[in-house]
Amino acid sequence: MKLKYFSHSAFQITANSGKVILIDPFLTGNPTAPVTAESVEADFIILTHAHGDHIGDAFDIAKRCDSLIIAVNELADYAISKGLKAHNMHIGGSYNFEFGKVKFTIAHHGSMTPDGQYAGEPAGVLITVDGKTIYHTGDTGLFYDMKLIGEMNHIDYMLAPIGDNFTMGIDDAVKAVELTNPDVAIPIHYNTFPVIEADPEEFKKKVEALGIKSMVLAYGQEFEL
Ligand code: NI
Ligand code: MN
Repeated sequence: MKLKYFSHSAFQITANSGKVILIDPFLTGNPTAPVTAESVEADFIILTHAHGDHIGDAFDIAKRCDSLIIAVNELADYAISKGLKAHNMHIGGSYNFEFGKVKFTIAHHGSMTPDGQYAGEPAGVLITVDGKTIYHTGDTGLFYDMKLIGEMNHIDYMLAPIGDNFTMGIDDAVKAVELTNPDVAIPIHYNTFPVIEADPEEFKKKVEALGIKSMVLAYGQEFEL
């Protein structure tokens, strides 16, 4: 599979089968986005929670591409209420889709749609495609159960927020990586706006001091996992 970074918390996974999965596609209004919402295609869109910088362009893309939205129950129902296709899941549950397996985890944060609708609990997500597992933590503070998540699942790539203010900052994110023990840790959710400015190289250095690999992705960078 291939993983492409659209900045902030937004990613595109392309499975070996050719299926395209977007995660939290916040492109319009994102000053760091390397592509426009109109230029991306998606078979599936996974949402961690409903904040504007995560739900982003998801519904417009889903409408245009007839994508299936995958989210916790309340957010999936909200998508359905807007005329979209959705697969309702919830924290702790996993499901095998044609591209691979999705499992939602806890995240300590909030979740409300931009128009003020309750959207259930925020979540992190484990996505297993072509034999590799990505743990996108969503927006979250540090929590000790990351150790359990790492014990129960072999994490190949952990995508962890470092921007502070709304989520973990660098030192908490480094601790999160230590608890989860992935093969590779990638910083996300930073430098999109002044309030979440952070130095990804500092995160990388501190993660590598633990003996864990880290990659800082450029906006628009894609690589083979
Ligand atoms: Ni959020
Ligand atoms: Mn956010």
